[in-house]
Amino acid sequence: MRILVTGGTGYIGSHTVLALQEAGHEVVVIDNLVNSSEESLRRVAELSGKPAVFHRVDLVDEAAVDAVFAEHAINAVVHFAGLKAVGESVREPLMYYHNNLVGTLNLLRVMDRHDVRSLVFSSSATVYGEHNPIPYIEKMEIGANNPYGRTKEQIEDILSDLGAADDRWHIALLRYFNPVGAHPSGRIGEDPQGIPNNLVPFIAQVAVGRREKLMVFGGDYDTPDGTCLRDYIHVVDLAEGHVAALNHVAGRAGVFRWNLGSGKGTSVLEVLRSFGKAVGAPLPYEVAERRTGDLPAFWADASSALADLSWSTTKTVDEMCEDHWRWQKNNPLGYLS
Ligand code: NAD
Ligand code: UFG
Repeated sequence: MRILVTGGTGYIGSHTVLALQEAGHEVVVIDNLVNSSEESLRRVAELSGKPAVFHRVDLVDEAAVDAVFAEHAINAVVHFAGLKAVGESVREPLMYYHNNLVGTLNLLRVMDRHDVRSLVFSSSATVYGEHNPIPYIEKMEIGANNPYGRTKEQIEDILSDLGAADDRWHIALLRYFNPVGAHPSGRIGEDPQGIPNNLVPFIAQVAVGRREKLMVFGGDYDTPDGTCLRDYIHVVDLAEGHVAALNHVAGRAGVFRWNLGSGKGTSVLEVLRSFGKAVGAPLPYEVAERRTGDLPAFWADASSALADLSWSTTKTVDEMCEDHWRWQKNNPLGYLS
């Protein structure tokens, strides 16, 4: 198939472009490069031997998106493009609602006009909010507690309404847990701008000497070692999950929801130790105040993806850290190195 990947120069997008090419698909990428660099796609082409077509397009510009569909006969879309920083979304809600919602509405209208109705969408475990028991199961009532998460929830609602109104749509809503790691080649990986918000990119910058130490946000949670538990998933496993979801929905109309996670919780200190093992030396940290909005623990019930897609995670937290470290060590300043 010829797959359009929005946000395909970004972290998860670039790994998924590679997985799609390895599965035999042709890929067209659109991205406005607001949080990424085209260098990722050059490296993906180096790994796959097949360049993806790239268009620098903002999804908020409907005419530009339409022109891409007019130029290429697209069969299906994997939609990653969006802004994703929770804290920034609290400070700049209009920017988040405008970018994520208007961008998605434009994409859907263009797809409909061009008779392309197969879509895989990047949702997030954040849609489960703070009131659900763990592990999270797809059929639970959702309710995000920050503007970023609400954009994901609202897009899920839009897509559910669309699927209910028109049975020609084939839609997968993928709720990612905590993606980390990098392609084992060390050529592509996560390249955060500024101070990383997320745990593993921050640890990686401590390991490479760009930051002094990890601040562990909260050491007094009701968890085995007092630090929060999350469900970390290797980005290569996550990318494979998209290929599996695409294959599934290609043959079936409807709206499907799957958690993509390992089904296991790992603590902040366990991740830090694992990264230290990859580096070959323990990494410095200090226990600090809790971070506002953090939940003590959550992980996926990953059984639906296994049952429906025959997909499950294959890589351990140690492998995630080894691969993330290889990427960071070889590219201390990310794609600019
Ligand atoms: P990323 O920032 O690396 O990738 C997103 C890409 O979208 C970037 O390349 C950015 O330039 C592009 N983009 C943003 N707005 C755009 C617009 N209006 N038009 C065109 N391109 C635009 O982030 P990622 O970690 O690869 O995340 C990909 C998707 O997965 C996002 O939708 C994110 O919300 C979702 N997600 C990420 C995580 C995570 O922890 N990384 C967890 C759950 C869900
Ligand atoms: N943490 C630290 N120090 C840091 C960064 C993080 O101790 O410098 C801790 C956090 O307190 C949390 C854990 O590491 O306990 C994981 O934090 P991340 O920011 O890496 O991940 P979150 O689970 O908070 O958030 C992630 C994504 C969100 C998404 C959410 C739910 O970043 O976009 O998962 O899917 F909404």
